[in-house]
Amino acid sequence: MSVAVFPEPLDLASFAEDLRSGLLTQGQRVLPSKYLYDEVGSTLFEVICVLPEYGLTRADTRLLLRHAPSWVSRLPADTCVAELGSGSSKKTRLILEAMARRQETEFFPIDISHAALTQCARELGDIPNLTVSGVHMEYLQGLSEVKARRRQRGPLLVLFLGSTIGNFDRESGERFLRSVREHLSPGDLMLLSTDLVKSEAELLLAYDDAAGVTAAFNKNVLARINRELDANFSLRHFDHEARWNPQARRVEMHLRARSDMTIQIRRAQLDLTMSCGETIKTEDSYKFERTELPLLAQRSGFSCQEQWVDEQWAFAQSLLFAQ
Ligand code: TRP
Repeated sequence: MSVAVFPEPLDLASFAEDLRSGLLTQGQRVLPSKYLYDEVGSTLFEVICVLPEYGLTRADTRLLLRHAPSWVSRLPADTCVAELGSGSSKKTRLILEAMARRQETEFFPIDISHAALTQCARELGDIPNLTVSGVHMEYLQGLSEVKARRRQRGPLLVLFLGSTIGNFDRESGERFLRSVREHLSPGDLMLLSTDLVKSEAELLLAYDDAAGVTAAFNKNVLARINRELDANFSLRHFDHEARWNPQARRVEMHLRARSDMTIQIRRAQLDLTMSCGETIKTEDSYKFERTELPLLAQRSGFSCQEQWVDEQWAFAQSLLFAQ
């Protein structure tokens, strides 16, 4: 693939429409979490991943370092690999190097961000015997594309790392796994990473670190709306708030207004009135019990062959087989 980086063409009309439907509501105001990841947001998220309080990324990496060489060596040599979200190349590299050591391997990162795909191709391009082909599509459409483009006929290994599944609500997460399964054939595999339920104190710190990086990341979505839709949110008048919802087993990220205010979002033709203490929810991060994963897999047409849990941070990787 090409290596030129160009800015993502953002669809301003659907951005404006998402703001109108999320913000002008009687209930909880929400912003779709995908808007957190502009260039500033993605860079702040990379910093979050190395914060001492945010154990997820390191746990994911440790599990791969410790276990991937062994399970990868047992895969058929002509296995080809796809990744939902082009993810951190550091993690993916651990799997790809183990595969490409054995024979020529095809890797298809699937992402709606062209910049992420470009970076991925650049960072993994040095692995001998590996062909990287970026797929610039939504996840499911991307899987169909991989089927059409792949040349190796062995099983397909789908990577879904970083506990990204936790950003779906439970029902949509299950529906999503089932749809992934429908795009696969019996014998294909999926490596699914999930953050597990742990103490409330640990969870809240992971989403509200002492240095304030997560707060900056969350507030950046307002700065982005100011920049791209000509709005006048005053970031100083919002507090970042992480809440643990034990019934739903999720961390909720909010932005709380510190005073009564009216905001103009000019390019969305929207005037927003918020009262002091009201919040906008920007993301849910669902957490799992390790024992529910084999059941979730089963209901979605997979069987959980193996599961590994990190010893330092409650986090699981489950290797699922399409049935
Ligand atoms: N999806 C990631 C997670 O659930 C992203 C994330 C980390 C995040 N910290 C955040 C999203 C704070 C919103 C606000 O862990």
